[in-house]
Amino acid sequence: VGAYPIFTREEVTKHRTLQDGVWVTFGDSVYDITDFVGLHPGGSKIMLAAGGALEPFWVMYAVHNQQHVLELLGEYKVGEL
Ligand code: HEM
Repeated sequence: VGAYPIFTREEVTKHRTLQDGVWVTFGDSVYDITDFVGLHPGGSKIMLAAGGALEPFWVMYAVHNQQHVLELLGEYKVGEL
């Protein structure tokens, strides 16, 4: 608790390219997924969520609704909203 820095959604929107870093949110958590983009089993579609929330995309692609995916995402957490 309190171990992560706090970011605004506006700050997250500034990170939507590989050059600036690729950040996403899920719930109230912020993730820097820059190093995962090239590893994503779903390819470059992941960039649609860059700088914003994962939820609208993961509703459409329910393959993410699995414990192993959430654990993987957790490795990239850098902050909270
Ligand atoms: C598949 C992770 C974002 C589209 C997967 C899988 C993982 C993953 C681990 C394989 C799951 C399995 O087969 O058990 C992630 C993470 C994301 C992310 C960590 C964000 C940080 C997205 C976004 C989209 C997307 C935003 C679409 C806009 C897909 C699709 C597949 C997939 C279509 C299926 C690929 C296939 O099996 O052919 N993702 N994903 N993903 N993802 Fe993502």
